[in-house]
Amino acid sequence: MPSSIVSLQDSAKSQQLLIKPTSGIALKGSITIPGDKSISHRALMLGAIASGETVIEGLLLGEDPRSTTACFRAMGAEISELNSQQVIVKGVGLGNLQEPQDVLDAGNSGTTMRLMLGLLASHSDRLFVVTGDNSLRSRPMSRVVKPLVQMGAHIWGRKDNSLAPLAVKGQQLKPIHYHSPIASAQVKSCILLAGLMVDGQTTVTEPALSRDHSERMLRAFGATLDIDAATNSVTLTGQPTLQGQKVIVPGDISSAAFWLVAGAIVPGSDLLITNVGVNPTRTGVLEALEMMEADIKRENERVVAGEPVADLRVKYSQLKACEIAGDLVPRLIDEIPVLAVAAAFATGTTVIRDAAELRVKESDRLAVMATELGKMGANISELTDGLEITGGNKLAGTAVDSFTDHRIAMSLAIAALNASGQTTIHRAEAASISYPNFVDTLTSIVQGS
Ligand code: S3P
Repeated sequence: MPSSIVSLQDSAKSQQLLIKPTSGIALKGSITIPGDKSISHRALMLGAIASGETVIEGLLLGEDPRSTTACFRAMGAEISELNSQQVIVKGVGLGNLQEPQDVLDAGNSGTTMRLMLGLLASHSDRLFVVTGDNSLRSRPMSRVVKPLVQMGAHIWGRKDNSLAPLAVKGQQLKPIHYHSPIASAQVKSCILLAGLMVDGQTTVTEPALSRDHSERMLRAFGATLDIDAATNSVTLTGQPTLQGQKVIVPGDISSAAFWLVAGAIVPGSDLLITNVGVNPTRTGVLEALEMMEADIKRENERVVAGEPVADLRVKYSQLKACEIAGDLVPRLIDEIPVLAVAAAFATGTTVIRDAAELRVKESDRLAVMATELGKMGANISELTDGLEITGGNKLAGTAVDSFTDHRIAMSLAIAALNASGQTTIHRAEAASISYPNFVDTLTSIVQGS
């Protein structure tokens, strides 16, 4: 839909998103967000390895779940055409993934590669080679290779087996108790998925609680898990019978976060975001925005297929600076780029610490947010493990770059809504990794004003 405020320009290789707010725009309307990325990956994977049929409603149709789909189709799972209404997965049954005839390509998706490695490592006598795009081939895989090798896995890769492409020769693995040095749901889930084929119990202890979608869904599919909340430990009993299930994927709070911040910073805004997953391991962004005195209300709270869901209403209010650190960080890890945008419009200095993990995401999100938001005039500086942002500078539109990182592209678009003049976001097509309709929704809420 053409709009004078939001427009797209295509060049040979990439897409530019142009945003030029008129004075006095306010964001209004009701927004439906796409399905949760983490839950979509897990539904496809567990569906593929379970016996029988899994029916997925609300699957995210972004590039990342498409990568997972292609990989598991190549290993024998039958996955119907992807759509957000209903996807049917006919699983191969635990232990029956086939050796693929070609390299498995995880694209841009760290979740696909790291979770899948746990499954591949435990499929005896089969050889798998996994790779990804430029970004994924530079992201650390040693965090999953190391514990898998402790379980007896045979994995080879570049840079001392730490970078993809990786070759995996499946083995019968042994149970371990792994004390992960980082709070990472990808690490935890990789080990638990490897533990499915193990004779015995596999335990993962993490330094702080990361998202628990794998634990919830493994239980729903029939696995036995013991969770010790006091020590952030989860123990899986190996060799369960996994049976296909119906999975209803809630909207992704990481995608809702863009609209929460947009509504909070653009004067006069009033947005309703419906069907948002509010699993407590993911709601750090709500707590941070609450600390910043944002006007956000949860409405219509309910539980859908084992995951808590709510509608969120956000209205403009003057934000205040806050501190984000410690155990809160894993619960808002993907929302830090857009929280940095919120901080640029808050009074006072916001400090984000304990977030060094952002340096090994789809881009170095600390460095990229500091330079790109800085170009727009924000007072933002990098710390070794975070960011310091002093709000109050008026932002001015200019040319910025996503660095092919979906969350950077969308965070900069939200900043542009409250900047003077035109912002041009280069390589904006990256948004389709997790949010294919981002520009349409953006257009509809500025036009609704
Ligand atoms: C994810 C876990 C997080 C998150 C990523 C999705 C998952 O990564 O950043 O977008 O689905 O398990 P880490 O486990 O590396 O923190």
